[in-house]
Amino acid sequence: MPALTSAAPRLMARGLGLDVRHRDPGLFTRPRRAAIVSNIDLEVAPGEILGLVGESGSGKTTIGRMLAGEIAPDRGRVLLDGAALTLPLPPARRRAVQLVFQDTLGAFDPRMTLGRQLDEPLAVAGLPPADRRRRISAALDAMGLDPALLDRWPHQVSGGQRQRAVLARALSLDPSVLVLDEPVSALDVSVQAQVVNHLAALARDRGLAMVFISHDLGVVGHLAHRVAVLYLGRVVETGPVEAVFGAPAHPYTRALLDAVPVAHPGLRRPRLRLEGEPPAILNPPTGCAFHPRCPLAEDICRRQRPEPSARATARHLAACHFPPPAEA
Ligand SMILES: Nc1ncnc2c1ncn2[C@@H]1O[C@H](COP(=O)(O)OP(=O)(O)O)[C@@H](O)[C@H]1O
Ligand SMILES: [Mg+2]
Repeated sequence: MPALTSAAPRLMARGLGLDVRHRDPGLFTRPRRAAIVSNIDLEVAPGEILGLVGESGSGKTTIGRMLAGEIAPDRGRVLLDGAALTLPLPPARRRAVQLVFQDTLGAFDPRMTLGRQLDEPLAVAGLPPADRRRRISAALDAMGLDPALLDRWPHQVSGGQRQRAVLARALSLDPSVLVLDEPVSALDVSVQAQVVNHLAALARDRGLAMVFISHDLGVVGHLAHRVAVLYLGRVVETGPVEAVFGAPAHPYTRALLDAVPVAHPGLRRPRLRLEGEPPAILNPPTGCAFHPRCPLAEDICRRQRPEPSARATARHLAACHFPPPAEA
């Protein structure tokens, strides 16, 4: 999708980091604090969809939970419409940023109809019944769902319908930001496309800001306006999707794209293969954390972490000591 002209960011992260207490294997080791994500700067404007991609274990879910105010960062902050999110969030701000996960069976109580479960958060918010019915019906409509679904139990509907019902429940709260963590990864490709089209329409027509977390670069290429590529808890490349997927500057991005059969319209196939498993996030390699897997690595990559630097446009940044020459 073409990049939007920039509006003031709705959701912004500056310098986000999170540590965990971790004990290395061995008899006499002591627990230590280890970072799982560091230095995360992100922003997403109204109507914009930011894709967050990276291999499993790269920190996507952790970042999503911090963006949604579900866990507090140890470093940095998240700003919603310019004001810092501080936990615990007051109810109105909790509704403003909705987090939706992939596990839709876990999202619903198996002992209650979908109708009751869609109604519950609105009742908790103190809305009168007529208002609740109106909001639920509008949200079902936005996700292309039949109201007859409300009388069903979670296990009686398909995975695609359940995923859309989770999204409808989040939408009924009238959020200004959706953080979607692998929302279509468990669905069949045809069902994925339907859900993705509904999400694109929501951003476009209602000005919702979305963070779309996925390991599927094909889906992100179709849906997102901008993308941030994570490696071991750090953003290694970010920018408009056409720039990052069309002229990837970081060898990790090139390798991820090389592994994808689905091509983005502007995609030039790079020729880099990703060898081996990513190292443990709690013991990242020195310098550029990607260097042990990088075919371009030289001595400086082992010693010094590269800073993000601008590519052909200032909005396209990559953190690599040896990026390819930027095209004008
Ligand atoms: N509380 C924790 N203690 C130790 N490690 C954790 C904790 N939470 C997450 N991790 C580790 O941090 C890494 C990033 O996790 P996650 O954010 O779930 O990544 P992703 O969503 O990209 O798969 C994983 O390797 C995970 O095992
Ligand atoms: Mg995850």
